[in-house]
Amino acid sequence: MSYIDDNIIVGENIKRAFPIAGREDFYALKGMDIIIPRGRLTILKGRSGSGKTTLMNIIGALDVATEGNVHFDGENLSTMKERDRERLRRYEMGYVFQSVGLIPIMSAYENVDFGLRLADYKENHDERIRQCLDMVGLGDRLLHVPQEMSGGEQQRVAIARAIAHKPKIIYADEPTGALDTLTGLSVMKVFKELVELEGITIVMTTHDPNLMEFGDVVYEIEDGEIIGREEHTN
Ligand SMILES: Nc1ncnc2c1ncn2[C@@H]1O[C@H](COP(=O)(O)OP(=O)(O)OP(=O)(O)O)[C@@H](O)[C@H]1O
Ligand SMILES: [Mg+2]
Repeated sequence: MSYIDDNIIVGENIKRAFPIAGREDFYALKGMDIIIPRGRLTILKGRSGSGKTTLMNIIGALDVATEGNVHFDGENLSTMKERDRERLRRYEMGYVFQSVGLIPIMSAYENVDFGLRLADYKENHDERIRQCLDMVGLGDRLLHVPQEMSGGEQQRVAIARAIAHKPKIIYADEPTGALDTLTGLSVMKVFKELVELEGITIVMTTHDPNLMEFGDVVYEIEDGEIIGREEHTN
């Protein structure tokens, strides 16, 4: 296996500056080198304001670095056209956010189907929707609308929607942030199974110390810099 086969993301010297009126730019990211191994769960940890979301947005093709390069599957996100980033977001990537983002008038089933339609999923939708909702333990909640589900259940629908079109990678920014500890743990178990059973790559952020053990790789971020990298072999 080559470097690119092993690592779906290779980022070098990633900087992100935000303009501040009347002052020098503020560097939220100060030159990060990061690699995200394929088929593993990577956790970005760090205090509020350390730069986790800023980094996720850049490696997730939602934002562009001010300086530095980010290679996704061998393609340079920093220099490609916005249209190409859009293609990657739509077909190759999946997103889960803290504020779930399900469509309130749609059932769990329809929410997942919506994700498949957006990604022009070519295979059988019904089969894949049921399979994904089963994987997150909601096979018996297909027709529930978000309002009829708990926060954890809604988050699991959001995960089913994010994985349904078989993206290469899932980006999850504080996916357990709005959940109690136990429910958060069950979401982490779902992630772990997806990595193990579907071979998917997951990158997530959290500041919950109880969740670190789930990470195959854990990066520690402080004030816009990576200050540590731990690998867990289990
Ligand atoms: N659009 C923006 N304009 C100016 N400053 C920003 C912008 N987005 C983020 N920042 C600043 O960059 C720093 C990093 O923010 P970021 O959202 O990445 O932190 P975080 O680690 O995700 O924090 P949290 O755990 O609270 O979500 C913060 O100081 C923030 O105020
Ligand atoms: Mg954040």
